[in-house]
Amino acid sequence: MDGARIIDRLRPDAEGERQDLVEGLFASHARISPKYFYDEMGCALYGAICRLDEYYPTRTEIALFQANRDEIAKAIGPGRQFVDLGAGDCGKAQGWIPFLAPRRYVAVDIAAHEIGKSLARIAPDFPGLPLVGLATDFTHALDLEGVLDGSPALFFYPGSSIGNFTPKEAVRFLSCIKGQCATRPGSTLLVGVDGKKDKALLDAAYDDALGVTAAFNLNVLRHLNARHGFDFDVAAFRHVGFYDEGEGRIEMHLEARRDTAVHVDGRERAFLAGERIHTENSYKYHAAEFEAILGEAGFATIRRWDAPAGGYFVFHAA
Ligand code: AVI
Repeated sequence: MDGARIIDRLRPDAEGERQDLVEGLFASHARISPKYFYDEMGCALYGAICRLDEYYPTRTEIALFQANRDEIAKAIGPGRQFVDLGAGDCGKAQGWIPFLAPRRYVAVDIAAHEIGKSLARIAPDFPGLPLVGLATDFTHALDLEGVLDGSPALFFYPGSSIGNFTPKEAVRFLSCIKGQCATRPGSTLLVGVDGKKDKALLDAAYDDALGVTAAFNLNVLRHLNARHGFDFDVAAFRHVGFYDEGEGRIEMHLEARRDTAVHVDGRERAFLAGERIHTENSYKYHAAEFEAILGEAGFATIRRWDAPAGGYFVFHAA
């Protein structure tokens, strides 16, 4: 292979991005979008999270895939355009490519720095397979013009990342994928979804003993300081991560350990000790709840596989 084709559709709009960030920070309940987790350090920390004893989703999904590889591959069919949403290190797709024999592999990720590296890593394993890297914020819009042709595609969204949307946002995002499927008859979606489970297990998964999730969460402040010249005192915050049973979601926050402030464009945003910045939600679903979401998004044919240990699902939907 001659190397991967890399397409950059990140359209950096530094001013718009800064305005969104400022709006979130100056809101009465301050927030930062989780998409800012994934700078180079954040990607490395997320990789470490996936290897933690407490963080079960990665290994649970791997076990599910291993136990059902042939059946899932048969349901998808060979020769698809394999669109890997949030490809990261391309590790999950790597296991699938030999079983799916796709006609093209498209790694999509917001972390532009990861894509070229990841594709170069897997390229020697798949000579002859066209590899494309698409750097874009696909949670915002999925522009596949000139990237895919009209033949059937598989949209692959593993890792329970769908949980990082609210249920409403998930319906909107999945409707957009359904729209992409409709323009290429025979296309389908394979999505991994984390199930509701015991609070203690969930709490530990998002607040591990080694403090890797804490570093991942706090790193967002370091990233914003570097990216936008903010002056967060990272040491003035601590990680808070817990499962809210009523909301059915993990919440991650950064809580001020003491009174502190950040300065942006001559304005000061003060945080009193104990005040929090909401950085992430991770929704957990009963199988039937997620099936309803897929239905709302327009998917009519739905098949499900459960993890051998339970509490995690993979849906194939058309
Ligand atoms: C990327 N996403 C599926 C992870 C999750 O579990 O929601 C992000 C993460 N946040 C803390 N740990 C992992």
